[in-house]
Amino acid sequence: MKIVLIMLVFVCANMFVQGQQIPGFISIDCGAPNDYVDPHSGGIYFETDTGYVDTGENREVSTDYLGIPYAGFSKNMRIFPNGTRNCYTLRPQKGKNNKYIIRVSFFYGNYDARNITPVFDVYVDTNYWFTANLSNSYRREIIYFSSRDYIQLCLINSGNGVPFISALELRLLDSGIYPFDSGVALDMLARNALGMTRKNYRYPEDPFDRFWYRYSLSGLQTVVNTTTLTIDPNTNPYKVPIEVLESAQVFNDTQGWTNSSSPSDKWYIYMHFMEIQELQQNQLREFSISIDNAVVAMETLQFSTVTTFLSQMLSGQTTISFNLTSTARSTLPPLLNAFEIYKVLDLPNPMTASGDFDAINNVRKTYRLEQSEDSWQGDPCIPAIDMWSGLNCSNDSTPVIISLNLSSRDLSGTIIPAFANLTMLQSLDLSNNQLTGPVPDFFAQMTTLKILNLNRNNLNGSLPHDLLKKKKDGTMLLSYDGNTNLCDSNSCSGKGLSSRITVSIIASTLSVVVVVILLVARVVISRNLRKSSDGRTSDMSKNRVFSYSELQCITDDFKTIIGQGGFGKVYHGILEDGMEVAVKVLSRSSRHGHKEFEAEVKLLMIVHHRNLVSLIGYCDDPDNMALIYEYMSNGNLRSYLSKNHPHVLRWPRRLQIAIDAAQGMEYLHCGYTSFGNFNRKSDVYSFGIVLFELITGHPALMKENGKLTHIVRWVSPRIERGDIESLVDPRLRGDFEAASAQKIVEVAMSCVAAAAARRPDMSRVLSELKGCMALEIHSTESQRMGTSEMGYSFETTFEITSPSLGMLPPDAR
Ligand SMILES: *[C@@H]1O[C@H](CO)[C@@H](O)[C@H](O)[C@H]1NC(C)=O
Ligand SMILES: *[C@@H]1O[C@H](CO)[C@@H](O)[C@H](O)[C@H]1NC(C)=O
Ligand SMILES: *[C@@H]1O[C@H](CO)[C@@H](O)[C@H](O)[C@H]1NC(C)=O
Ligand SMILES: *[C@@H]1O[C@H](CO)[C@@H](O)[C@H](O)[C@H]1NC(C)=O
Ligand SMILES: *[C@@H]1O[C@H](CO)[C@@H](O)[C@H](O)[C@H]1NC(C)=O
Ligand SMILES: *[C@@H]1O[C@H](CO)[C@@H](O)[C@H](O)[C@H]1NC(C)=O
Ligand SMILES: *[C@@H]1O[C@H](CO)[C@@H](O)[C@H](O)[C@H]1NC(C)=O
Ligand SMILES: *[C@@H]1O[C@H](CO)[C@@H](O)[C@H](O)[C@H]1NC(C)=O
Ligand SMILES: *[C@@H]1O[C@H](CO)[C@@H](O)[C@H](O)[C@H]1NC(C)=O
Ligand SMILES: *[C@@H]1O[C@H](CO)[C@@H](O)[C@H](O)[C@H]1NC(C)=O
Ligand SMILES: *[C@@H]1O[C@H](CO)[C@@H](O)[C@H](O)[C@H]1NC(C)=O
Repeated sequence: MKIVLIMLVFVCANMFVQGQQIPGFISIDCGAPNDYVDPHSGGIYFETDTGYVDTGENREVSTDYLGIPYAGFSKNMRIFPNGTRNCYTLRPQKGKNNKYIIRVSFFYGNYDARNITPVFDVYVDTNYWFTANLSNSYRREIIYFSSRDYIQLCLINSGNGVPFISALELRLLDSGIYPFDSGVALDMLARNALGMTRKNYRYPEDPFDRFWYRYSLSGLQTVVNTTTLTIDPNTNPYKVPIEVLESAQVFNDTQGWTNSSSPSDKWYIYMHFMEIQELQQNQLREFSISIDNAVVAMETLQFSTVTTFLSQMLSGQTTISFNLTSTARSTLPPLLNAFEIYKVLDLPNPMTASGDFDAINNVRKTYRLEQSEDSWQGDPCIPAIDMWSGLNCSNDSTPVIISLNLSSRDLSGTIIPAFANLTMLQSLDLSNNQLTGPVPDFFAQMTTLKILNLNRNNLNGSLPHDLLKKKKDGTMLLSYDGNTNLCDSNSCSGKGLSSRITVSIIASTLSVVVVVILLVARVVISRNLRKSSDGRTSDMSKNRVFSYSELQCITDDFKTIIGQGGFGKVYHGILEDGMEVAVKVLSRSSRHGHKEFEAEVKLLMIVHHRNLVSLIGYCDDPDNMALIYEYMSNGNLRSYLSKNHPHVLRWPRRLQIAIDAAQGMEYLHCGYTSFGNFNRKSDVYSFGIVLFELITGHPALMKENGKLTHIVRWVSPRIERGDIESLVDPRLRGDFEAASAQKIVEVAMSCVAAAAARRPDMSRVLSELKGCMALEIHSTESQRMGTSEMGYSFETTFEITSPSLGMLPPDAR
């Protein structure tokens, strides 16, 4: 039993080594095709850059360099031929308010066979770090305090070649070490181990994966103690590895280290000391540290005890230098094990408020703006002269986004909640896109928002009441034209244009009683879908009687309006078994009596046709009469024909829809049973209107030169001129058979004939339409019926309603 356990632990540990990032590390081999464990780097797990960057292209060094044993990550790189700013975004697990080493590596390797090394700038977040002017392989490292949960590393094209990068590494540091002020970072110039036997050490010897390089000051004696030394861990907060400390160089009084500086440069020097010889009673190693010829500290070394000396910030010199000088009573010369030199990097530029950063990046990802031409990269607001296109920011120490213009940026999908997190937004322009779904409530809660433009999208539902209030009282400039399925309080009440468009056609049956009833022709396009829908329909033959309280429950207290017809609102509902339903409630003001309602329920109860929506039940509470019927989750035909809909219904599909709808109507008019008092000729007229909608893509009432025009008035002159092609929906780009178009226009024209007697009956219409389809299939050999279109179903509504609302045939007036 125990053995098994131990083996399991072993297997897990092994897997950890093979496939896991070391905690606190992010290691990216830019441009690499897959993740791997790098044996050259102490078994560090390198990832590809997928998920860290969304621009650029992968390259591999020239074959001349493939044999050279550099670190694994030297082989691949990511190049950024497009855009001036391209960024990696790191989100370390420990997040903000931590200190990190960020290391970048470049190996040109003549990947482009031009042998010209590019020169470009490297930024960490919004601040300049260095200019990469690369001879061959090149590595830079910075110690950086992140005040955000993310760190961006950006390459800036300065016109001197295509920026690229080979590797990007991040290491979490202990917070107490390498102290520095806010507003700066430490740019590493040197990290040297004196007299070290190996060329360099990193992870796993160094727990922070610092690179220690072998270094020797010329003329100085090297001392090494390779017997296993131990370090008192309490004396080593910088966690300098024993491999670095076990060797040292011995200074003499005329020797030191010096390097050039400029007076504007600021420096920190770190020295790590440990006595590696066991000193005799009478031995003492004591010395002073001079920096730029001034004594700054005194050290007395002890065996196995680490001392780290940290200089003050140094500046204003043309050279920096240090000397170690033994004191008068010291019996042994000074000794130095390792030292590090850091240049102070100023970080003058602010960063966008992190809430805004997250929100706008959420927007960027959701609407795929990272792939747009002017790719949004790096910080949105900074540098101010190069803000992301379409936005503007406040000029503060922490900039926030104050306006966002995403007009005509091809946005689709719904409006996401992230917009609400742009808490100082004053102006938002989302016009001229393909946004769908409802207008969210949160816009009304955004106190600074003064301009909101939602024009020309495909938004639906009703506008939030609070938002309309803000428009009314002038606190917000709100516009939402050109959303065919969006209703405000006016259009929802059935007076405006939108309701008539939402209900794609309202026909009239002038029977003796003005019967108000709704039949929804279910048009199912995919053949597979049709089968399953048939199954569903037959299950629904038993109708149910609902109480008013049940209706309240089903509709969540009449929360979501999904439509508006001549005789009341339609609400979305969910039955106990999860089935979605539409609940059509008779408005109290409607002129229909109880008796008529019951007659209609009876009618609907016997109507069962695959192309007609099914009645599930009804509520005949005298004050709250309602019909509960099948819900078509894909919306209505009108929205599919709208020019804003991302999907273009192709010609054969439109013919199929016409046939399906005609079949539903023919069943009503001529079925096994008689369904009552239809004015069949009026229905045929209505059907003709639907045909014209399918042909032209226009709604029944359309705007032409700013005026409302009846679709029949729009098509007639064009048909008289014989200009059929100009009628057909331009979104089809001519992809239809002229012969079938000619024929369906003729059918539609006959349906809308002014004299009712001249209109054909539905059987005739159906057979003519089948003829159209035959023409189409014959000439295209059914190619275009192919598989590219997914199955979907939706409704087209024929409402038989009172004359005041409808698209009346001429004889009804
Ligand atoms: C980048 O630029 C190259 C040539 O300059 C072009 O072929 C490529 O399509 C561009 N890529 C993107 C994503 O714009
Ligand atoms: C890159 O470095 C070379 C040699 O140090 C120098 O001549 C050249 O001007 C530098 N290029 C840029 C753009 O700074
Ligand atoms: C100190 O170093 C210099 C330069 O290498 C050397 O010439 C000199 O002899 C050394 N002095 C002592 C006391 O070791
Ligand atoms: C080290 O100190 C000696 C004596 O003070 C001086 O002559 C020498 O120039 C110093 N060397 C450096 C590099 O500062
Ligand atoms: C002086 O600094 C440069 C980098 O700025 C480095 O390449 C050079 O090796 C340094 N010289 C010494 C003696 O450390
Ligand atoms: C090297 O270190 C060991 C302890 O690990 C010590 O016993 C020994 O004396 C040291 N060697 C010298 C030459 O001091
Ligand atoms: C951007 O906002 C600033 C205020 O921070 C304003 O002065 C400036 O006019 C705005 N720019 C544009 C193009 O709207
Ligand atoms: C931003 O504010 C600073 C001073 O706070 C000012 O110098 C600068 O011109 C301002 N920039 C813009 C674009 O308003
Ligand atoms: C948004 O940009 C478009 C041009 O792309 C412009 O017509 C429109 O006026 C802008 N909207 C706002 C609110 O500034
Ligand atoms: C909005 O910000 C809050 C924190 O301020 C965050 O919890 C939430 O996830 C953000 N929402 C979105 C949609 O980005
Ligand atoms: C709005 O459109 C979406 C599809 O884009 C649909 O799922 C939803 O039911 C529609 N809502 C209303 C109220 O029409």
